Amino acid sequence: MSRISAPSTTGLSRRSFMTATVSAAAAAPLLSSPTRAEKPAATRSGLREKVAVSLRINKQPYKLSLDARTSLLDALRDHVGLTGTKKGCDHGQCGACTVLVDGKRVLSCLSFAVMNDGKEVTTVEGLASSDGKLHPMQQAFIDHDAFQCGYCTPGQIMSAIGCVNEGHANSEDDIREYMSGNICRCAAYPNIVAAVVQARDQARGT
Ligand code: FES
Ligand code: FES
Repeated sequence: MSRISAPSTTGLSRRSFMTATVSAAAAAPLLSSPTRAEKPAATRSGLREKVAVSLRINKQPYKLSLDARTSLLDALRDHVGLTGTKKGCDHGQCGACTVLVDGKRVLSCLSFAVMNDGKEVTTVEGLASSDGKLHPMQQAFIDHDAFQCGYCTPGQIMSAIGCVNEGHANSEDDIREYMSGNICRCAAYPNIVAAVVQARDQARGT
């Protein structure tokens, strides 16, 4: 101990040198933080400027002004007010956010709204006809009790429509494979397959 606290030849003890160094390091963030607070990085680079996005959603035109980072899912839910499309993971892993864009299945949580500028988006709210008649896939889900909590159901229905339209519903194995991107924690899978078969056969007129 006596050696550590003994004065060095420069007149600065090891203890006082360490104290001074630690104090300087601790002070550094405090000195730099006001500069960071003045101008957040996102504002500096202009990322928060709004962009104009035109979408046709369920056959209605929408003109939106959005942060460029807004996902199609958040645009639908938070800016248009269509909350039928669900957010289960926001990471492309559950399929609850599935919508049709120009007729094709898209995970709306993984697609920026701006990427869909000028495109036709169909959500579960756009399936029933104006007189309230359900889409055959919606009716098939009811007929076969293909949901319990219903949280995955809009994504399942949109995905099932895409699956049939793609020609990927030729067998029950096909349906299981091409619907495997849609997770159902209530495990309604056998009933979902039965519903897709019914709607497929109806679409084929068989
Ligand atoms: S919310 Fe998009 S895949 Fe889960
Ligand atoms: S019905 Fe509940 S998660 Fe599918």
